[in-house]
Amino acid sequence: MPQKIFFEQEALDDFSKYLKDGNFSRVFFLVDENTHEHCLIPLLQELAEIGETEILEVESGEESKSVEVLVQLWMALSELNADRHTLLVNLGGGVISDLGGFLAGTYLRGISFVNFPTTILSQVDASVGGKTGINLEHLKNRIGLFLEPDRVYVINSFLNTLPLEEKRSGYAEMLKHGLITDKEYWVGLCALDITKELPSHEMIKRSIEIKTSVVEKDFRESGLRKILNFGHTLGHALETVSHEEGEPLLHGEAIALGMIGELMLSTHFAGLSEKSAQQAIKKISSFFEDVEVVGDTDRLFEVVRQDKKNHEGHILMTLLNEIGTAQPDVEVSETAVRDVLKQLQAW
Ligand SMILES: NC(=O)c1ccc[n+]([C@@H]2O[C@H](COP(=O)([O-])OP(=O)(O)OC[C@H]3O[C@@H](n4cnc5c(N)ncnc54)[C@H](O)[C@@H]3O)[C@@H](O)[C@H]2O)c1
Ligand SMILES: [Zn+2]
Repeated sequence: MPQKIFFEQEALDDFSKYLKDGNFSRVFFLVDENTHEHCLIPLLQELAEIGETEILEVESGEESKSVEVLVQLWMALSELNADRHTLLVNLGGGVISDLGGFLAGTYLRGISFVNFPTTILSQVDASVGGKTGINLEHLKNRIGLFLEPDRVYVINSFLNTLPLEEKRSGYAEMLKHGLITDKEYWVGLCALDITKELPSHEMIKRSIEIKTSVVEKDFRESGLRKILNFGHTLGHALETVSHEEGEPLLHGEAIALGMIGELMLSTHFAGLSEKSAQQAIKKISSFFEDVEVVGDTDRLFEVVRQDKKNHEGHILMTLLNEIGTAQPDVEVSETAVRDVLKQLQAW
């Protein structure tokens, strides 16, 4: 199920054509207040002939990926008489593409939708791969659908207004793409100073290629797709506990530390050389040195143990055999995990 992904001017051209050919009865844009201001206004200026559009705005932040907000959006579409031939345009970060994808998939048993991702994280990760959904109370992504947008439109200049911590968070996922599949790309990414410059158009494209090629081979995550979880077993525990403790980490910040921990584990359980691990750890920590781990080891370990990738009580992770080669389902010991969590807490 290859996705149709377009970049820069080609994206704008294709979108105009898509609108014309699609003969949509209505066009709705789903935005939050930040993407309304920074992205929708310039985009509509570029698309002078778009005609009448409706805007659905939700509050920025993870809280909008909720059942309550979804109900409000269903009601809004219904009250505004959106019919089967309506198009939904998701213009925003991962919250908007996850929520909007699910909204489009469920309203009237499915209407057309496209994504314009506006964060690094959503460009290289959330808006490709066909996962959509919302949270159920505190249970992340508990309700959702595997569903591909008709198109993904990637425009680099949207990233200019992104706050630095959001840029860095998305950059962590890009580093992951290099580490799991492509050493040369990893080396190129390491030369970028994310605090001063944005990833190039080519880098964003390379990350999307990596994610797409993994997903195409394993859409429903039965095997290979698990390599995209590198850094995420420990990272997810750090993220979850940081929220419980009221000092929330951004996803990418947690994943950066998770990758550091899983690089350490890779030397013990997947044959990664000590030298390669240390070099990579040094590089990642140079960008994320101010990120702090909160919560105690027992609670962090409990979350690791509950990870959905585990099987029959064994703790399974994606680790690296070398930089650029990942191995899913490597079993690691409780002692080693606890030890690494302690090292991260002392970071
Ligand atoms: N479906 C998937 O495969 C997948 C993969 C990874 C993450 N996700 C989901 O994505 C979400 C995180 O995505 P995110 O990091 O993009 O978060 P987000 O959508 O919350 O965006 C982060 C912040 O940046 C602001 N913003 C977005 N674009 C902007 C711009 N161009 N200029 C200025 N501000 C802008 C937003 O308003 C928000 O405050 C999570 O809910 C996560 O579960 C989904
Ligand atoms: Zn991630």
